[in-house]
Amino acid sequence: MSEDLTIIKGNKTEQYESLIPQIKGLLDGEPDLIANLANITGALKEQFNWFWIGFYLVKENELVLGPFQGPVACTRIKKGRGVCGSSWERAETLIVPDVEKFPGHIACSSLSKSEIVVPILRNNVVIGVLDADSAELNQFDKTDQYFLEEILRLINF
Ligand code: SME
Repeated sequence: MSEDLTIIKGNKTEQYESLIPQIKGLLDGEPDLIANLANITGALKEQFNWFWIGFYLVKENELVLGPFQGPVACTRIKKGRGVCGSSWERAETLIVPDVEKFPGHIACSSLSKSEIVVPILRNNVVIGVLDADSAELNQFDKTDQYFLEEILRLINF
C-alpha cells in the first residue's frame, strides 16, 4: 500500500477520480475493517477538507460512531433519527443542502450546514453509514453520491 496521498485541485469529479485509485491502494491487502475505514476518512478529509467525515456502524440495532476526522461527535444514533438514522432506515443516500431544514437533524455541531449520508449495504442490509458534513450550505450533490457509493463498494466486510 501507499501511505502518501497526492492532493489535487480541480473540479469535484477530477478530485474523486484522483483519489479513488489512491484509496484502492490504501485498502489493497489490508483486511482490517477499522484500519480501512480510518484511512478512507483520512483520505477524504485531506482531499476535500470537509468539516466532518466519518463512519457510523450498526451495532445491536443502533448506529455507533466509528472512525472519523473532525470534531468529536454523538456516539449513538437510533434508527430513523437524524440524517444518519434516516439513511439507515430508508437504505438510501440522503443529500441535505441545509441541515436546518431537515426535520430531526441531529446537530453534533452548529457549524455543520450541509450533509450527505451514504449507507453501506451488504446483501441488501445496511451495516453502517458514511456521513460527511460541510461548514457551508449546499456542498453535496449527485456527484458526491456517485463517487462515495463507489468508494464504499471498495471496502471488504
Ligand atoms: N448530523 C447527523 C449526526 C451525526 S454528526 O453530524 C457527525 C444526523 O443528523 O444524523
